[in-house]
Amino acid sequence: MSNPKIALITGANRGIGLEVARQLAALGHQVILSSRDEEKGRAALASIQQNQDLLSYHQLDVTDAESVERIKNWILNQYGRLDILVNNAGVNYDTWHQALNANLVECHETIEANLFGPWNMCQAFLPIMQSNGFGRVVNVSSGAGALTGMGGGTPAYSISKAALNVLTIKLAAEVRGDILINAVCPGWVRTDMGGSAATRSVAEGASGIIWAATLNAGGPNGGFFRDGRRIDW
Ligand SMILES: NC(=O)c1ccc[n+]([C@@H]2O[C@H](COP(=O)([O-])OP(=O)(O)OC[C@H]3O[C@@H](n4cnc5c(N)ncnc54)[C@H](OP(=O)(O)O)[C@@H]3O)[C@@H](O)[C@H]2O)c1
Repeated sequence: MSNPKIALITGANRGIGLEVARQLAALGHQVILSSRDEEKGRAALASIQQNQDLLSYHQLDVTDAESVERIKNWILNQYGRLDILVNNAGVNYDTWHQALNANLVECHETIEANLFGPWNMCQAFLPIMQSNGFGRVVNVSSGAGALTGMGGGTPAYSISKAALNVLTIKLAAEVRGDILINAVCPGWVRTDMGGSAATRSVAEGASGIIWAATLNAGGPNGGFFRDGRRIDW
């Protein structure tokens, strides 16, 4: 993908999202970094050493419909379109729970952020992409949401990511035009969520997301990938 695009990253104030914002700007794209806490998001933006002219900021809580509407209107006023949406925001890798004893309030909150958040975002931005005839959507998922080989543990997280994978398939089948929607697992990444023992840096985790966000026309649609390679649902 050669010409510059307008990209929005959710949950970009730290971890993989911040690195995706940095890498997309380094490729010359206009990047909107968003976060639910404005102060943290602006500090994160300021921490990026290069390409500040390609970076902008707007508040966004993906679980808040009014917040989604506000950023949509701001992007339309500012840029007139959105080309790339990275649904990165995610919560609650609940390794301390099992389905048998999970706190269901916490499960609701997890599904709200990890499934309904991206769904809100897709409903807001896919019509704009469709009318513009171009779009790339990356739903940042997890191998923990793969049904193949799924065992017990991480109930809220795994169920939310499995549902996000299904959403990816549904939306990919429904859109028309040069719009590619894929789910990507970044691998086990050293972030607040992944912990310090994780095997991958944020740069390694972000690279497969960048790949899916910058696919050329005719690239895969409705798939599940890690490092640009298909993985089992
Ligand atoms: N790290 C891993 O090993 C790993 C593995 C597989 C998949 N993933 C996925 O990769 C994505 C990024 O994870 P990460 O490791 O970078 O996690 P992280 O460091 O915990 O960052 C998560 C980000 O999501 C934001 N967020 C949470 N709820 C939000 C909401 N309602 N609206 C907007 N932003 C929200 C957080 O904002 P606050 O700072 O305000 O909380 C934070 O910026 C997630 O979807 C995660 O499930 C991670």
